[in-house]
Amino acid sequence: MEDNYKIPRHVAIIMDGNGRWAKKRLLPRKAGHIQGARTVEQICEDAYNLGIEYLTVYAFSTENWNRPDDEVEALMNLLRKYMLDAIERCSKNNMRVRVIGDKSRLAPDIQDSIAELEVKSSVNTGLKFNIAINYGGRDEIVRAARAFAMDVKEGRVEPEALTEDMFHNYMDTHGMPYPDLMIRTSGECRTSNYLPWQLCYSEFYFTDVLWPDFNKKELQKALDYYNKRDRRFGGV
Ligand code: FPP
Repeated sequence: MEDNYKIPRHVAIIMDGNGRWAKKRLLPRKAGHIQGARTVEQICEDAYNLGIEYLTVYAFSTENWNRPDDEVEALMNLLRKYMLDAIERCSKNNMRVRVIGDKSRLAPDIQDSIAELEVKSSVNTGLKFNIAINYGGRDEIVRAARAFAMDVKEGRVEPEALTEDMFHNYMDTHGMPYPDLMIRTSGECRTSNYLPWQLCYSEFYFTDVLWPDFNKKELQKALDYYNKRDRRFGGV
């Protein structure tokens, strides 16, 4: 790696293409999600080894509830299993896990596991891994606006005091730097309600590779692309 090679501090990923990966192999869509979950674990390790500090993945959107019941159930079971395994593993892999999104609609046992995992892993100093579950960017902004309005109503803050930084404190990603790079797999070129506030100045990398096939080599390609960009943040 060259001396001036830049590693993005925060990478956000839309893990798309699990269904197509399964279809190509004549497998049920669920099999694509299972393989996708394995890819998540490997990419966390690779990202950390490459020096990435924050990784945020889109596991389940507010719109994903509209999928067939059996697929929603399969995804929830995968996430349930992931949380339980991660509670065991997080001391070993030193990862700090946080879930963003509206957790209140998740099954109570999943909410409990998430709370336990977040507390237990909060002392860890390795990769800061965020999982977006029942996440929608517009929903996040509305929830933040509601929380701010509540603070105004209760007299804790004046409306005029609101700044962009202060508003971010009301959002699920409070305390995190904004993503430098957003990766979407499987050829779709849109952001699908993912981190609209946070991605304003991020570089976007789109690849045709399906999520279950995404690996360290593909992540490295995304970083190479990022290194060719000239980020000006509205300056010259
Ligand atoms: C999009 O592919 C993928 C999802 C909606 C689910 C992503 C979830 C995982 C990778 C597994 C669980 C995650 C963790 C953190 C353990 P798609 O099904 O829309 O693919 P398609 O467009 O080919 O149908």
